Amino acid sequence: MIDVNKIRGDFKVYESHPNLIYLDSSASALKVKDAVLAMDHYHNDLGSNVHRGSYDLSYEATRLYEEARDKIARFINAENTEVVFTKGATAALNIVAHGYLTKLSKGDEIIVTALEHHSSLLPWMHVAKMTGAVLKYIPLKNNRITVEGLKEVISNKTKVVAVTYVSNTLGYITPIKEITKVAHEHQAIVVCDAAQAAPHIKIDVIDIDVDYLAFSGHKMYGPSGVGVLFGKKHLLDTLNPLEFGGEMADVVDYYDATFKEAPLKFEAGTPVIGAAIGLGAAVDYINKIGLDNIHNYSLYLKEYTLKKIINEPGIEIYNTDADVGIILLNVTDVHPHDIATVLNQDEVSVRAGKHCAHLVSKQLGVDSTVRASFNIYNTEKDCDVFVESLLKARDFFGSF
Ligand code: ALA
Repeated sequence: MIDVNKIRGDFKVYESHPNLIYLDSSASALKVKDAVLAMDHYHNDLGSNVHRGSYDLSYEATRLYEEARDKIARFINAENTEVVFTKGATAALNIVAHGYLTKLSKGDEIIVTALEHHSSLLPWMHVAKMTGAVLKYIPLKNNRITVEGLKEVISNKTKVVAVTYVSNTLGYITPIKEITKVAHEHQAIVVCDAAQAAPHIKIDVIDIDVDYLAFSGHKMYGPSGVGVLFGKKHLLDTLNPLEFGGEMADVVDYYDATFKEAPLKFEAGTPVIGAAIGLGAAVDYINKIGLDNIHNYSLYLKEYTLKKIINEPGIEIYNTDADVGIILLNVTDVHPHDIATVLNQDEVSVRAGKHCAHLVSKQLGVDSTVRASFNIYNTEKDCDVFVESLLKARDFFGSF
């Protein structure tokens, strides 16, 4: 069960912004004190580099950095050698796509979906252009990604299926395990964008069997500037790194070099030390609260809010059946940025626009939308104020 008053005490931002109604956690979640303290400890008390210092400060920094990797590996049921720290989910997905520049050729197929965030779409669009591979889309069914849809487009030429685990706009959960099974039957790899999934649903990479998976720290009550790339070890071993530099090399000669094994092969230069340690603490916090509790509470608030607006004239909701705590809507004939501006006057934070997923707006036949996303620090009162403010905006701008 969620004790929201106690939870709000874990997020320092409420001390300086007591009236904040933060409904934009799908963009970035608020930062839990534990994560900030863990980073402060590294920056204040250690501050040294990792893996390359023969002295106590560096040993301790390395221990904390690798401990964070272990925590994340356990969190998704991976081996720690399969967990690469990156600067974000986007960077992680770009590493994979870049590695396939030399693995794909003309006529190969890359399958994506119109629900992808740009970080899961544009790298593959680039790879398709560079290699001559064909980009194909899974036809959506009621705006959802389905196995049946995949079966309509997959072929023996398909080499990659790049797919979101949870849509950042519509909040639909992809049947990823079944999608992966079909992809593997065609010898295609699955690259999964789990940026919206990792903060809300239990990920077990062995069970879902995806080949690569990415998520970011800033949606998990942790810092920005850190993300995670999971890759099956045998695949990481044959993937070319995107960046070359310090600590990733093994033996360097004048005209050739060999590289360390994954994960260090993909962590060239000084890695994201403080942020990775902060993410480790954020993962501890998520484990303490429980992913099921986080998910169920966010869903509860979504349903609570939906009931209040579903029959209101002039409010168009695109995902009443969302699987996570996200509502995507429009007020008829009012631009989402105008709505967000009015909401902001009541200290309600939502995202308005295309949400870095332009194809979703195209699918819905709209220019842009307002997105409210719910999390463990939101209260029913937050939802009430959101609804009041939304209806106020509708009455002010709309023709109702
Ligand atoms: N990917 C983030 C979002 O959906 C930023 O808002």
